[in-house]
Amino acid sequence: MAPVMPLPVSSPMTAFPQPDAAWLDNFQEKLLTWFAANRRPLPWRQDYQPYHIWISEVMLQQTQMERGVAYFRRWISRFPDVAAVAAADRDELLKYWEGLGYYSRLDNLRRAAQALIERHGGTLPDNLEELQRLPGIGQYTAAAIASIAFGRDVALVDANVTRLLARLFDLEQPLYDQAGRRLVENIATALLPSGQARDYNQALMELGALLCAPKRPRCLACSLNRLCLAQKHGTATLRPKPRRAIVKTNLPMAAAVLVHDGHVLLRQRPAKGMWAGLWEFPGLILGPDQDAAALAEEVRHLIGVDVVLEKLARIEHHHTRYRVLLDGYFCHLSTQPQKTPDRCRWVKVEELAAYALSAGHRRLAGLIPPAVAPRK
Ligand code: ADE
Repeated sequence: MAPVMPLPVSSPMTAFPQPDAAWLDNFQEKLLTWFAANRRPLPWRQDYQPYHIWISEVMLQQTQMERGVAYFRRWISRFPDVAAVAAADRDELLKYWEGLGYYSRLDNLRRAAQALIERHGGTLPDNLEELQRLPGIGQYTAAAIASIAFGRDVALVDANVTRLLARLFDLEQPLYDQAGRRLVENIATALLPSGQARDYNQALMELGALLCAPKRPRCLACSLNRLCLAQKHGTATLRPKPRRAIVKTNLPMAAAVLVHDGHVLLRQRPAKGMWAGLWEFPGLILGPDQDAAALAEEVRHLIGVDVVLEKLARIEHHHTRYRVLLDGYFCHLSTQPQKTPDRCRWVKVEELAAYALSAGHRRLAGLIPPAVAPRK
């Protein structure tokens, strides 16, 4: 057994000693053998089409694998290639993205698809420079496409890879600042087996996700455990040093589910800003002294009807920066509303599924009492 590669803690943050050839051979062989035997049969891992790799990587950012796979399959069945994305209207793309959040990714995807049609004949370029010139394709996504789709020798660093390498070399320093990121990139690059970046990158991510898990790493099942310094020192669960938690601000909101004659009122959000273009039940952000009365006032202003609101639920959901506290109210209108306001639509309750709603409002939709708004 080759010895664990030493990595002096006193080394400059972005420098590290080159592993010797025997250690490197051993590491690469063990990693790639593990991957060949344990890789998950993901849908984009069949023929590695560049378009598939691109979509999967964008979807998997901030999304669990199982969920990502379900969204991927649905997306590809409707938008099989770049041209289909470029030609689709935003509302339809949004419907297929609903629930993934981070909707700016979708706008970038659409703009990148249009640029690919204009500049590259609808195919993805095979090099980092041109990939990074496309909207929404940063360093990570470009490296993923270049290596996984085109087999280019570029290393890929995500949270799983960072955790795995932090443990392999028992790195104590912060890895989520610029110097730390550079160190991890340098290590990932130095360990890359030339000509095998596709499998190497995926193997690191896969091992990080399946065995080198954040809280309970399965070190006994790991083929790299004899090479792992954190395993040797008993520090695996301390690595990497946690990043500072993002403090989220509470955002109190209220919304009214207004039902009339089997229809419910939806309003489309503006094209820019939070949840851009998504549909929702009309409502407002509540100020510090506001409650349901402010919502009733908003409804009266919108449709010219005085309403008595019945509380449905408090729904808490998380946005990048906010903890949204959404109070959902219900009102069954007996009189015909006088007007349909701007950006609003009366939608049959059974057709709600066809509209792209934000996560909180989708949950609210599930609470509409079936007795007043029967669903098929
Ligand atoms: N996470 C993001 N991309 C991945 C991939 N290609 N394989 C495994 N995990 C991933």
